[in-house]
Amino acid sequence: MDKVNNADHATLTLPGSNRSAQLKLLSGTLGPQVADIRKLQSDLGIFTFDPGYGETASCESKITYIDGDAGVLLYRGYPIEQLAEKSTFLEVAYLLMYGELPTSAEFETFSTGITRHTMLHEQIRRFWEGFRRDAHPMAVLCGVVGAMSAFYPESVNINDPREREISAYRLIAKIPTITAWAYKYSVGQPFMYPRNDLSYAENFLYMMNAVPPESYRKNPILERAMDLIMILHADHEQNASTSTVRLAGSTGANPFACIASGIAALWGPAHGGANEAVLKMLEEIGDKSKIPAFIAEVKDKNSHTKLMGFGHRVYKNFDPRAKIMQRTCYEVLGELGVKDPLLDLAIELEKIALNDDYFVSRKLYPNVDFYSGIILKAMGFPTTMFTPLFAMARTTGWISQWMEMIEDPLQRIGRPRQLYTGAPQRDYVEMAAR
Ligand code: ACO
Repeated sequence: MDKVNNADHATLTLPGSNRSAQLKLLSGTLGPQVADIRKLQSDLGIFTFDPGYGETASCESKITYIDGDAGVLLYRGYPIEQLAEKSTFLEVAYLLMYGELPTSAEFETFSTGITRHTMLHEQIRRFWEGFRRDAHPMAVLCGVVGAMSAFYPESVNINDPREREISAYRLIAKIPTITAWAYKYSVGQPFMYPRNDLSYAENFLYMMNAVPPESYRKNPILERAMDLIMILHADHEQNASTSTVRLAGSTGANPFACIASGIAALWGPAHGGANEAVLKMLEEIGDKSKIPAFIAEVKDKNSHTKLMGFGHRVYKNFDPRAKIMQRTCYEVLGELGVKDPLLDLAIELEKIALNDDYFVSRKLYPNVDFYSGIILKAMGFPTTMFTPLFAMARTTGWISQWMEMIEDPLQRIGRPRQLYTGAPQRDYVEMAAR
């Protein structure tokens, strides 16, 4: 097959035939053009082959933009660095959902709406009795979020914009309560009910850390760090979990079921589970003297060991979130007076990897997870809570992407095709003759 570019279309010609297809080149506001292949099968009788969808734009979106080579991340056009410095998580949530930064009146209405939905139905509380105490909190998140539609049956009316909006509020408001209770249950402490006088981040920290017999002391350093971590994780265009949410949503499934599927996809160590894996890796290395042996193992193709927290499907330069996370890591550890040898180990590992041809030639740089685990550990979170915290923040991005998808006139059920390499058609053979 040869490909010829014209001004606004590419021509794809099948070898040995005079059949060709005109692929219209579509332009977004930013980023490379995309070739529209929607008529490829009807025009040429062929599909495209793209395992992992790395070369495929699965949808049109106005929410998040990434330039992986330049290390750029924009939410609704605003650079992540500016939002991290000047905004708050709840304002970012509004921005992702509605497309613009809110006026003070709009923000007031939004944040009041979120605050008023933070409690869980008391019946949901009883779910926890069915979980083992040592259940991974991601399993609890998947189960509880998936079951929420049982409490809000009207949420299945996905064609009603008001119902969609109410479901989005419920999810953003209740996910910190579910996440904190997943932790409280694992340590056998009483559930703390949300407090509407606290900010989104502080309320979460309160539900995680407070206990009934003691008065709760606010910690502005932790509050700001929590808020920042959530801003950095709020959305990341069509990654594995977001694509899962969209794929589930494309069938018309209710939003709670869709977000539960996103939580399930996020759980894997190649995605949201990476921050947990980074910390495990650092603990296993244990000492700077063991780094060269570990790097050699990573480079050995037969070992299947990866340098966790390094590499990204899209970023082939520094992940901009990793830079902010690295700075925040120093600040938080400094302000909390925490001296963590794992941070020294991470810095040394990063230095060695950034100068090693294996990583340089493959454009493997630290991603957001390389430092987030160290901050979260310093803030007192157990390792198993790292991925749930990510899910909590990403719920905002998922639901914004889901809402955009439902409103998209181009939306159809997601149904990829395949390159079949199995047996050709053959006749059934009786057992005695096999
Ligand atoms: N350590 C060692 N080698 C790596 C790593 C790594 N972390 N990441 C990629 N490579 C190697 C691959 O083995 C491959 O080498 P080869 O060309 O010799 O075969 C090459 O770099 C290209 O990598 P791909 O697998 O094609 O990259 P892909 O885009 O498929 O994977 C991923 C991206 C999954 C993130 C991968 O880099 C990885 O597993 N990293 C570690 C896990 C991690 O940190 N995940 C968090 C991602 S960010 C997030 O989800 C929030």
